[in-house]
Amino acid sequence: MIKIAIQKSGRLFDESIKLLKECGLSIDNGKGQLKAQVRNFPAEILYLRNSDIPFYVEQGIADLAIIGQNVVAEKEVQIEELLTLGFSKCRLSIATPRNTSYHSITDLQGKRIATSYPATLKQYLEKNKVDAAIHLINGSVEIAPSIGLADAICDLVSSGSTLFKNNLIENEVIFKSQAALYGNKDALDKKKTDVEQLVFRMSSVIRARQYKYILFNIPNKSIDAASAILPGLKSPTIVPLIEDDWSSLHSVIKNDDTWDIIDQLKQVGAQGILISDMSKIVV
Ligand code: PRP
Repeated sequence: MIKIAIQKSGRLFDESIKLLKECGLSIDNGKGQLKAQVRNFPAEILYLRNSDIPFYVEQGIADLAIIGQNVVAEKEVQIEELLTLGFSKCRLSIATPRNTSYHSITDLQGKRIATSYPATLKQYLEKNKVDAAIHLINGSVEIAPSIGLADAICDLVSSGSTLFKNNLIENEVIFKSQAALYGNKDALDKKKTDVEQLVFRMSSVIRARQYKYILFNIPNKSIDAASAILPGLKSPTIVPLIEDDWSSLHSVIKNDDTWDIIDQLKQVGAQGILISDMSKIVV
């Protein structure tokens, strides 16, 4: 039985549940529930406070956890990162009020910086030989300069809208983060079979999210030109059409390349181009 910790509320909750369900785990996540048995996999879900999760994994109370890399870095725990998950991408940044000038990190020498990430900030300041006072605040950090509590802040930025609304400018990105799957070192050994099975399922789902399935019709004389445009996992599948001298090509392309590839395929005579999402890719 593996114990998997996820956030009980907050930004990672919905995506974590969605990912586990796409991995085939049948989970009862009723409101206010702190623990749930998975009905069709030897696992139990623990719904925990974000900031506690790294310690629970380190101590072996949870075997696995889905959590932001930023939280793990801040808590300075010894746990294994098994897989990056591609969601909850954000950055930990230093920002200063719009009406103050900022040229480099040395401008913060002797200043006050408010943050919920004191350890990560301290490391960054030490690396840059800047001596500043770190004020620990556990939420609404962006308000600190406007109420006279600090000269700068260091907090998570995702869309940037909280900084904008508080008249702050992002000056230094000190850590880039996304959600990841972490594991307790002993559990990775003792519960190897179940852990490997879950990691395998998760990587198949995560990989599928990065790609699209493409299929289109193409005159046979243009198959080589079309194949050259498609990077795919392997070479494209070619299926002859009933109509003479035409074929259907099937392949897999990266999300980010989709529109470029469609434009290029049109130029070599592709027709009836279909693009669809995939739920799993097993390589
Ligand atoms: C986080 C973070 C920022 C905000 C940034 O807070 O602390 O305040 O998101 O996001 P944005 O760049 O998209 O505006 P969150 O809402 O997660 O709550 P928290 O204050 O409890 O951390």
